[in-house]
Amino acid sequence: MKSLILYASPHHGNTKKVAERMAKKIGARLVDVIREEPPDLAGYRLIGLASGAYFGTLHKSIVKIAQEAPFTPEQRVFLADTCGAGYKDYTYKVRMLLEERGVACLGRFQCPGYDTYGPWKLIGGIRKGRPNDHDLKMAEQFILRMAQEAR
Ligand SMILES: Cc1cc2nc3c(=O)[nH]c(=O)nc-3n(C[C@H](O)[C@H](O)[C@H](O)COP(=O)(O)O)c2cc1C
Repeated sequence: MKSLILYASPHHGNTKKVAERMAKKIGARLVDVIREEPPDLAGYRLIGLASGAYFGTLHKSIVKIAQEAPFTPEQRVFLADTCGAGYKDYTYKVRMLLEERGVACLGRFQCPGYDTYGPWKLIGGIRKGRPNDHDLKMAEQFILRMAQEAR
């Protein structure tokens, strides 16, 4: 099954670690959408959209993909994020955008990520060392479930 994970991870590369682990587990193609144009989605059965949380939602490059990318009905989409404070589901807006376009979200993954934004910098950041080994193992379990459900 052809799988693709599109990610944006500009703060500390936290989401990149998660996306890399997921991609390795199922042999997915991995594309950093801040550095590269998203590829043609045709032919990919499972597509992941992943980023850090930015002001309550996913990174703007991921929001844009959710709004504009030409998903087809047979494609299965999952969402993933890493976050600092982590007080809510940061995938909600993107999930709603996708649903408005008739794209159902197969699942979502969230874990903490090292955060030095704004006042957190003054105390050396929060969520140090995250994602950690446990987070990455959870990411592996999640992606295996996504791959199974997309078949
Ligand atoms: C500009 C900015 C805004 C952020 N907004 C939030 C937020 O709303 N909620 C939260 O929990 N974390 C927030 N964070 C923390 C990041 O989501 C967290 O550090 C994440 O792991 C960064 O992912 P990345 O390293 O993959 O970019 C913010 C960080 C930055 C730099």
